[in-house]
Amino acid sequence: MNTAKQAYRHFQLQTDEHHLCWLTLDVKERSTNVLSREVLNELEEVIREVRQLSPKALLIQSGKQNGFIAGADINAFTDLGTRDEALALIRQGQNIFSQLEQLPFPTVALIHGFCLGGGLELALACTYRIAVDETDTRMGLPEVKLGIHPGFGGTVRLTRLIGGAAALPLILSGRLLNAREAAKLGILTHAVPRRLLRSAGVQLAFAPPKKQQPTLLARLAGSSWGRSLVAKAAERKLRHKVRQDHYPAPYAVLDLWRQHGSSFDSMMEQEAQSVADLIKGETAQNLIRCFLLQERLKSLPGTSDFTPKQVHVIGAGVMGGDIAAWCALRGHRVSIQDNSHEILARSVKRAEQMFQRQLKQPHLVTAARDRFIPDLRGDLLAKADVIIEAIFEDVTAKKTLFAAIEPRMKENVLFATNTSSIPLETLALDLRHPERLVGLHFFNPVAKMQLVEVVSTTSSSDESIRKAIRFTKGIGKLPLPVHSSPGFLVNRILMPYLHEAAVLESEGIPAAAIDRAAEEFGMPIGPIELIDMVGLDICQSVVAFMGDQQEVKMPGSFQTLLQQGRLGKKTGAGYYTYANNRPKKEKPGKGYRPPADLTDRLMLRLINESVACLREEVVSDGDLLDAGLVYGTGFAPFRGGGIHYVKQQSGAALYERLAQLRQRYGDRFRPDPGWDQFM
Ligand code: NAI
Repeated sequence: MNTAKQAYRHFQLQTDEHHLCWLTLDVKERSTNVLSREVLNELEEVIREVRQLSPKALLIQSGKQNGFIAGADINAFTDLGTRDEALALIRQGQNIFSQLEQLPFPTVALIHGFCLGGGLELALACTYRIAVDETDTRMGLPEVKLGIHPGFGGTVRLTRLIGGAAALPLILSGRLLNAREAAKLGILTHAVPRRLLRSAGVQLAFAPPKKQQPTLLARLAGSSWGRSLVAKAAERKLRHKVRQDHYPAPYAVLDLWRQHGSSFDSMMEQEAQSVADLIKGETAQNLIRCFLLQERLKSLPGTSDFTPKQVHVIGAGVMGGDIAAWCALRGHRVSIQDNSHEILARSVKRAEQMFQRQLKQPHLVTAARDRFIPDLRGDLLAKADVIIEAIFEDVTAKKTLFAAIEPRMKENVLFATNTSSIPLETLALDLRHPERLVGLHFFNPVAKMQLVEVVSTTSSSDESIRKAIRFTKGIGKLPLPVHSSPGFLVNRILMPYLHEAAVLESEGIPAAAIDRAAEEFGMPIGPIELIDMVGLDICQSVVAFMGDQQEVKMPGSFQTLLQQGRLGKKTGAGYYTYANNRPKKEKPGKGYRPPADLTDRLMLRLINESVACLREEVVSDGDLLDAGLVYGTGFAPFRGGGIHYVKQQSGAALYERLAQLRQRYGDRFRPDPGWDQFM
């Protein structure tokens, strides 16, 4: 191999004896390949040199273990200057990829691991794409999740390659594909075993097949009437999922393709214009903020030398069962303990469903199943590196259990409780080693909710907290360090909001109208449906622990449902009745108009409690609080979090509206003293 004349910082360019050029991207000082401005500039120089070398083919690969290219450098998205500056950068990216596309010899992208956003756009500008057929190969254009859409020619090249009918659903949803799916759709030329990746590339270089042409159907769908039909159908589906005023990017993609899909050049130009508009908009900036908050949680420091293998979960109910299954799914050996064989058998069945759903491939499901061990007597507790308690929410039951198991634990165990409301101080009181106890507060449903609150008390040691953070990250969840306070962060903030929803319902506002108001604000599901999902009994017990502090008492209609055993979704009925796991929501009558202050009553109670939590330092800063809100409660991501919302909306105006609600409805709307810092 001969190394190229020019030395590059992020690329290595070599020519082999067959006159093939091998280009390896290994971005310096980053664990992952991302396309920063500097990397793009260098790529342009590389392309210039390769053109002069005039090889038989150019093969592009990644020097990173974890994948090909994760996309553009998102850190730079918050600092793009004016719209014109953003447009210039996008055009530059487009231009470089077009230069790559126009090289007069075959170009092949050799893909392993993730190939996302700008990474896939680069690969689409190559003549051929080959990827490793393994589970960690993930390909897609997830830009809509950041409030933008592909801008380096991705919308143009993907719709051209596989047709709008196949490409649009991918771009509109940001869905990721594995190698087989991508090959089936025609995005990949081949999906091959890892050991054959390079040789498959060489084969393509020596015997390049005809460049893939869109199918007849794709060409028809690309005609002017075809585009109009396909876009209309796609838009109908989209409207069920996201609102245009909240998330404009997918709608912009539809317009782009509908209006400019017939011309490569015009679609390229409009793609750049459209992304420049979107990226400077509030939605994109807030979604990018959420992404960076998520990155911050992922990079919280944990104990590096804590490498737990064996996890023991006590309590195989809704939470314990799913926590144990999740840990097994993520590679830990897990023993699960409960009081009866029947309960354990149920948890095995549920775990099996989770493995099938999440892992899909039979050999992975079998491996996870083998790691999940029912343990009626708790024999494996003494071997566990992590112990998670998830039994009934009852102080005496938990303390009795702790007294029985503490003497049997390993000395350096991470000992955690999943309690949702009992103060950790109460549980730590009689422990011999209170410094070991932390809260690992998972949310329901475990497989879907990314956040885990890592709860510390004044007696928890730093070591235990760092171990908990490390463990949480290791199972692919986002750790949020919070100080012990009633309801911790997420439930504490949610509870006034859920309480207000129950009060509104008791005043005769239709449940569906209450939910709708919250959804229009941007919450993923309404508060009444959420109460049903969490369970009225659980809400009641959280309220019981927080009641004094928040002056909340659930209204009579809530108590009646509780007494009737209508505990929510799990009993088939709560506020709503459920069929096939879906609530039957009665639409309010035609002329129904909800009260003008409905949304404020719901959302300002949530925001006011967020301000209180910040003042009390339940979390250490406003960004962490917003991360908790977005990833723990689903708080409208396009608003960037509750504290961010206060800053964007003007604190004084929100304070004023809160003060008016207090006059109308009483002290539960009393503005927290923490508002001072936003005035
Ligand atoms: P659950 O009632 O579904 O399950 C509790 C399980 O613990 C039962 O299977 C019971 O047999 C078992 N159990 C009770 N005492 C035991 C003992 N001494 N030894 C072994 N097993 C014992 O309860 P769920 O909903 O799973 O809640 C568990 C914990 O998780 C509670 O502390 C709750 O506050 C918390 N939590 C619940 C959430 C939810 O949405 N359900 C969300 C987050 C936390």
